[in-house]
Amino acid sequence: MTEKSTPTRRQFVAGAAATAGLAAAGGFVPARVAIAGAAPVKIGILLPYSGTYAKLGEAITNALKLRIEQAGGKLGGRAIEYLAIDSEMSVPKAPTNTNKLIKKEKVDFLVGPVHSGIAQAMAKIVGPRETPIMIVPNAGSNLVTGSLCAPNIFRTSFTNWQPAYPCGKVMADDGHKTCVTIAWKYTAGRQMMDAGTDNFEKHGGKVVQDIQVSFPKVEFQAQLSEIASIKPDAVFAFFAGGGAVKFVKDYAAAGLKDKIPLYGPGFLTEGVSKAQGAAAEGIRTTLHYAANLDNAANGAFRAAYQKAFGKTADVFAVQGYDTGSLLIQAMDAVGGDTGATRDLIAAMEGATIADSPRGAWTMSKAHNPIQDIYLRQVKDSVNEVLGVAAKALQDPATGCKMA
Ligand code: PHB
Repeated sequence: MTEKSTPTRRQFVAGAAATAGLAAAGGFVPARVAIAGAAPVKIGILLPYSGTYAKLGEAITNALKLRIEQAGGKLGGRAIEYLAIDSEMSVPKAPTNTNKLIKKEKVDFLVGPVHSGIAQAMAKIVGPRETPIMIVPNAGSNLVTGSLCAPNIFRTSFTNWQPAYPCGKVMADDGHKTCVTIAWKYTAGRQMMDAGTDNFEKHGGKVVQDIQVSFPKVEFQAQLSEIASIKPDAVFAFFAGGGAVKFVKDYAAAGLKDKIPLYGPGFLTEGVSKAQGAAAEGIRTTLHYAANLDNAANGAFRAAYQKAFGKTADVFAVQGYDTGSLLIQAMDAVGGDTGATRDLIAAMEGATIADSPRGAWTMSKAHNPIQDIYLRQVKDSVNEVLGVAAKALQDPATGCKMA
């Protein structure tokens, strides 16, 4: 089989393992030498640039481009063309947007999205195809690297299970026996609440109420009254972006902050702790990143991000940055030959993102990061690391046949 043939899906999967040997034998080298002068590599981006997740999309995009600029602004020696679409966080528009990038623009790589429901819609389109290669720089849907996993779908962020599960034990270890969960009513909220509940109950806790708020609503008064009347030991919450600012502020304004401690996956305070101000102080969360992680890559990354954009870096920027690192590694491995899909996939599967600001991580068989989850606490508006809540945590990848 040559690189340019179009193998069946079965051949495609089987062939991936054999590719490293072929490359080592030099079989592809002549074709690749010519690639450097080829047309730009097309990177399609489907991220939110409006609404409650707008800042997440912006941070991911900024840091992706920053990482590639730091590597000379090229991938495998080729210039880059970015084609970005605002997802508007719309699941119904996701198929049209995805098909526009794949069929009309014929992108080589598809980067997105932030929202789990959109990720599932995209995965259903991309997974059955051989190309393009999709890299998810945020959306945590467990299914995308679970039952919807595919050779050409990778993730550089997390599954919804990963940052949520360890927090259940943290709450129990802090001595809490009862808890109310509250989250936006869609895939991400559901999966995070289920993961946190599971581990809280494994450690002797009991979830006494599960409150769901329509996405992306930010009116919380009725729900806060309900929490006040239930009086649980703790509250476990998922909100992010603009919604997280509003929820944490409203929680404090309702007089609950000093009575019933708030916990959650770190999105609750990530990138928004300054806007939340005093309302966020002391909140403990678990996440695959913390602002003051003591590694050389993190310090350099935060300084470079601040300098380039005049903004403070957060986990969303880290995920965009690592998406850039993954693209750089894979495109270097194939000398810029975007047609060498099997080799690109093999390079991504074997990748270690050694210089990640979150600490080094590797790719699981289901194509999701195996990574440390940190316990953090907000101090002076900074999400500071307190310790490692789960070392090299790997998602169970339920239903993924590649794992
Ligand atoms: C998601 O929809 O998967 C999602 C969105 C925002 C986050 C985390 C997960 O901060």
